[in-house]
Amino acid sequence: MTDPWLPVAHRVVRRVEETADTATLRLRPVHDPLPPFRPGQFAMLYAHGVGEVPISVSAIPGSGDLVHTVRAVGAVSRALHGAEPGTVLGARGPFGTTWEPHGTEDLLVVAGGIGLAPLRPVLRHALAHRDRYRRVVLVVGARTPADLCYRDEFDRWAAELEVVTTVDHGAPGWTGRVGFVTEPLAVLPLDAPHTTALLCGPEPMMRFSARTLITRGVPPDRIQVSLERNMQCGTGRCGHCQLGPLLLCRDGPVVAYPVAEELFAVKEL
Ligand SMILES: Cc1cc2nc3c(=O)[nH]c(=O)nc-3n(C[C@H](O)[C@H](O)[C@H](O)COP(=O)(O)OP(=O)(O)OC[C@H]3O[C@@H](n4cnc5c(N)ncnc54)[C@H](O)[C@@H]3O)c2cc1C
Ligand code: FES
Repeated sequence: MTDPWLPVAHRVVRRVEETADTATLRLRPVHDPLPPFRPGQFAMLYAHGVGEVPISVSAIPGSGDLVHTVRAVGAVSRALHGAEPGTVLGARGPFGTTWEPHGTEDLLVVAGGIGLAPLRPVLRHALAHRDRYRRVVLVVGARTPADLCYRDEFDRWAAELEVVTTVDHGAPGWTGRVGFVTEPLAVLPLDAPHTTALLCGPEPMMRFSARTLITRGVPPDRIQVSLERNMQCGTGRCGHCQLGPLLLCRDGPVVAYPVAEELFAVKEL
């Protein structure tokens, strides 16, 4: 059995630049693979000599490889983001709870910025099992058009799902929506009682999106959000990720909205 405390060596075999500060890495185990990951779960990725941070899986190829999309915001994420093919990184996991999209009815995926990364496995799964859902809608927001990840997949998503894209600030040539994701959510046709909504992005975006959906009639317990706090052990031992009564590495990151609602205001320890 894999020791959850021991980083397992993985080699970067592919690196795709998504935006100016975001890249998707495909990591191949140097020896044995980690146990399989499920959508919503994360790995602790270790850049040698720099440090370790939690990063969600952004695809599940099923071959033992790991796929992660990393936005460079600080020392560790910058080192991971810049890791070229051939670089060996450490990975521990899988950790955390999973998205529960409840097939057969309507699925609404709402993503802001890098929040699309943890939801991409859900979209890919929904595409592969399209018959399990009546309707699948993706509402995605980014700061600018240049900050949209997975541009090469958008055409396929748009062909088989309903996709609404909005940016905070337009740019020359952008003919799409400008504004926050809450605006399309307020008017989107919905069979609200039969909709499951999965939300990932900055906390204010998730809070306002959830409130909009609840006003529209989506049952709160059919809304799931992904919460982020600093993490160290990933295994429920160190307490770094405590948020109210939850240890987010174990009880999250994906939680039902009624659980998240009262915790949104709690600062990290
Ligand atoms: C469960 C989980 C899954 C995650 N999945 C992804 C992912 O798929 N892709 C990805 O790019 N990032 C993801 N993150 C965020 C990532 O872990 C942080 O960006 C990283 O820890 C920052 O560490 P650093 O040393 O690079 O920067 P730091 O030096 O620690 O921080 C630099 C700046 O970023 C801010 N920051 C730090 N952590 C976060 C955070 N969690 N959210 C927002 N701002 C933060 C700090 O306040 C600071 O301003 C995830 C976080 C969690 C908890
Ligand atoms: S990261 Fe240590 S308890 Fe969650």
